[in-house]
Amino acid sequence: MRASEIRRLIQVKPVELDAARRRLSACHDVFDLRASARQLIPRPVFDYVDGGADEEVSLAANVRAFRRWRFQPRAMAAVTGVDTSAQVLGRKLPLPLVLAPTGYTRMMHPAGEIGAARSAQRHGLPYTLSTMATTTIEDVAESTWPDLWFQLYILQDDGLTKELVDRAAAAGYRVLVVTVDTFVTGHRTRDHRNGLVIPPALTARTLASIAVRPGYWTRMLRNDAIDFANFAGRGAMTIQGTGSLFKPTVGWDDIASLRSRWPGKLVIKGPLSPADAARAVATGADGIQLSNHGGRQLDRAVAPVDLIAPVRDAVGPDVSVLVDSGVRHGADIAVALALGADACAIGRAYLYGLMVGGEPGVDQALDILAAQFTRTLHLMGLGSADEARTHGREMLVSR
Ligand code: FNR
Repeated sequence: MRASEIRRLIQVKPVELDAARRRLSACHDVFDLRASARQLIPRPVFDYVDGGADEEVSLAANVRAFRRWRFQPRAMAAVTGVDTSAQVLGRKLPLPLVLAPTGYTRMMHPAGEIGAARSAQRHGLPYTLSTMATTTIEDVAESTWPDLWFQLYILQDDGLTKELVDRAAAAGYRVLVVTVDTFVTGHRTRDHRNGLVIPPALTARTLASIAVRPGYWTRMLRNDAIDFANFAGRGAMTIQGTGSLFKPTVGWDDIASLRSRWPGKLVIKGPLSPADAARAVATGADGIQLSNHGGRQLDRAVAPVDLIAPVRDAVGPDVSVLVDSGVRHGADIAVALALGADACAIGRAYLYGLMVGGEPGVDQALDILAAQFTRTLHLMGLGSADEARTHGREMLVSR
């Protein structure tokens, strides 16, 4: 058979010449993005994103906890289209999804925080900037205008904490997310084994990883050096040094004083019991982000998805309840909604995309999750995310 005859039988797809786009187009789910990132990124950096605390019991259990639910779909529901929009903290989002705060994001890819925020904006989703970001509060706000949220670590230095809060308010951030599970830093075993140093230092290990991952290092060297942008001018800091920055004795009084200082919506990220969630609301929080920090802080902490129903009972129907830690598929978002959450947040899922392809990689991660979520609702016989919130519980069976 001649080539021209074969060409008539099969459609020849044009070859994608851009390597990053080629890689991204070969990724069909979040685990594909993870596998591709693993091949491309130096081991200490990949492990910093992918790893968890101590024995990584919570890290693995978070993912499993979403997957223990099975759906009982409605037959013949005659759904013509799926409305995936959701109301979160007083704003309608096209999808019940938020990009969670992640520190040191420019270490994963020079596109960093701005690339992730631009992608969030393109999808109409909120982006949460971390206190430990490598781009300043102001630079992110100037470069993009998505629904910006600012994540705060309460610092030892009270004046510095107030300064960060005021800067976020002045730059137009809508939501303040106060993380309450990091008064001491978790023990990230992989980082210790890998001898990870941030900002990257030239050690024998770094030199070895330059040899095996030259693409990553070329990209890094062509771009600005990584620093903890929000603390510029306060001396060099390493990842190991950042732990001493946080106030070890944070208490409910700190939340109360932030409430009176911050003009916008306030979310407490990391309470892990119905009693603490109720206390947060009593102290003035508008929302709760159930989270065990993606299994990076207290290992063996309960999987947040398992707390949605009791927390919803404790805080009532009007408080926004978000959940993160373990979301890797759009079906996870459907499970969270059915259990009573308003939205999910993701950390690693978008970082894997960022590591593979910068801003288009984050687009790919968000597109994958959006398509999976829409298809899941459709196949369940649900016409909207709202319906999943109100009727989904009857359609879930625990394995
Ligand atoms: C985080 N997370 C985090 N949280 C926070 O409040 N401030 C921070 O600076 C960071 N930094 C950070 C870095 C990296 C590399 C990761 C993976 C995570 C936690 C994050 O906001 C979120 O809670 C988890 O990532 C959710 O779990 P999944 O989606 O990664 O499983």
